[in-house]
Amino acid sequence: MLMINTLHFLGISLLIWLLSYLSHTEGCVYLYGSSPQNPAPTGWDYGKWGDDWTGPSLSSFNVSPQWKCLRGRQQSPIDFEQGPSTGQKAPARLRTTWRYPPLISNGQNVSIINNGHAIQVQWDLIDSSFRPEILVPFKGLPNSTVLDVLSMTAADVVHLAKAVPYQFHFHTSSEHTLEGMFGALELHIVHNITQAEMPGCPPTGCLMVTAVIFKQREQQNPHLEHILRSASAIEGATTLLPKSEAIDLQSILPLNGKSSYLQYSGSLTTPPCSEGLLWHVFSTPVPIGKAQVQRYMELVSFKNCSAGSSQRWLLSSKALYSFRDPQLLKTQAGRTLFSGLAAVEGDTSSLSIAKQSTATARHESHKNYTCTLGAYGYNQRFTQPLLGRLIRNYQT
Ligand SMILES: *[C@@H]1O[C@H](CO)[C@@H](O)[C@H](O)[C@H]1NC(C)=O
Ligand SMILES: *[C@@H]1O[C@H](CO)[C@@H](O)[C@H](O)[C@H]1NC(C)=O
Ligand SMILES: *[C@@H]1O[C@H](CO)[C@@H](O)[C@H](O)[C@H]1NC(C)=O
Ligand SMILES: *[C@@H]1O[C@H](CO)[C@@H](O)[C@H](O)[C@H]1NC(C)=O
Ligand SMILES: *[C@@H]1O[C@H](CO)[C@@H](O)[C@H](O)[C@H]1NC(C)=O
Repeated sequence: MLMINTLHFLGISLLIWLLSYLSHTEGCVYLYGSSPQNPAPTGWDYGKWGDDWTGPSLSSFNVSPQWKCLRGRQQSPIDFEQGPSTGQKAPARLRTTWRYPPLISNGQNVSIINNGHAIQVQWDLIDSSFRPEILVPFKGLPNSTVLDVLSMTAADVVHLAKAVPYQFHFHTSSEHTLEGMFGALELHIVHNITQAEMPGCPPTGCLMVTAVIFKQREQQNPHLEHILRSASAIEGATTLLPKSEAIDLQSILPLNGKSSYLQYSGSLTTPPCSEGLLWHVFSTPVPIGKAQVQRYMELVSFKNCSAGSSQRWLLSSKALYSFRDPQLLKTQAGRTLFSGLAAVEGDTSSLSIAKQSTATARHESHKNYTCTLGAYGYNQRFTQPLLGRLIRNYQT
């Protein structure tokens, strides 16, 4: 139902294409997260879907001791093996409730950031009239955290804590999978719960993420249109949501009473992959238009950049369309394309070239570049082992 194998297929194709091109063109292809246009390179990218996020040993940038990516035991995303019926049925009185009013822009207070990890939407938190009501049950004890709810029973006294959303962003393909199937895109709304609300949380608060998986359709999803239209494909660039445009998060959530959400304890899906987060993943996919998925993949695209232009952030999408047709790729690469991920894992020559281009990016970031969109990109970490974690299943 959710199979978007083409997305992976294109990613894999890119690596093969890199191999054949880097040797005989002036341009250099950079994976999303390593573009030389980015004034603050992220130091990591999605070239190996997170499998190379080793932390301090291989990276020179600043790393916190919280770095859990390859050694944590409660990592995200995960696969829900039985799809929407995964997990243990949870009592209705332990449900989380979501109430997001429209996020309205005055032309200054809602930003759309291409940070080299994702397209992320942030807003003015201090002066905001945006007042969502997201309530999460907990035990009300001095050691209570956002993970309380996972061990509560119908007999427990329910206290409610307020979770405050402070950014949301997207991944393509989806990061969580249902019965092994990927959706085209996944939305993560990140919430903070203060220590005042939950005494067992650290002073920086507890984190809770709400995830929605999107499934590709012909019809566009009107709630994503403003974001996709306003976002920049340039890494490091911030754009503002135009005045009077509004984002209706509430209408994106599949809260029609016919869906369920799956709740578990996990981590950030980007470095340092810190743990202790409470995840809520809706198990009913929400439609998104094919053109919208393509647009998002352009935003997180792999760029063909060459140094030496006098113009700083010149981008053109011209090159993109020459690489869309798998047949064309096949001819250009002069070899058979792989159709599965397992095959690419073994293709270390192309992966090492992808890594090499990342290294170059870090050294040449002071130069000006002209970039074209080289190929559709992805910003997705692969699913992680469950290792005995409990999953709870709630009807909405
Ligand atoms: C990359 O850009 C260079 C210089 O602009 C160009 O010569 C080359 O053909 C491009 N490569 C691809 C794969 O588009
Ligand atoms: C932005 O400002 C306008 C009025 O100036 C306000 O109505 C709106 O709620 C603000 N949006 C956010 C996210 O704070
Ligand atoms: C929290 O405190 C209660 C008693 O106040 C104790 O039974 C429980 O084990 C503690 N939980 C954790 C996670 O430390
Ligand atoms: C969460 O809230 C606390 C308390 O207001 C604040 O100190 C902390 O920076 C917030 N954390 C994030 C990630 O926004
Ligand atoms: C880089 O681009 C900026 C902005 O267009 C320009 O001012 C500067 O001279 C350029 N630098 C080089 C080395 O071309």
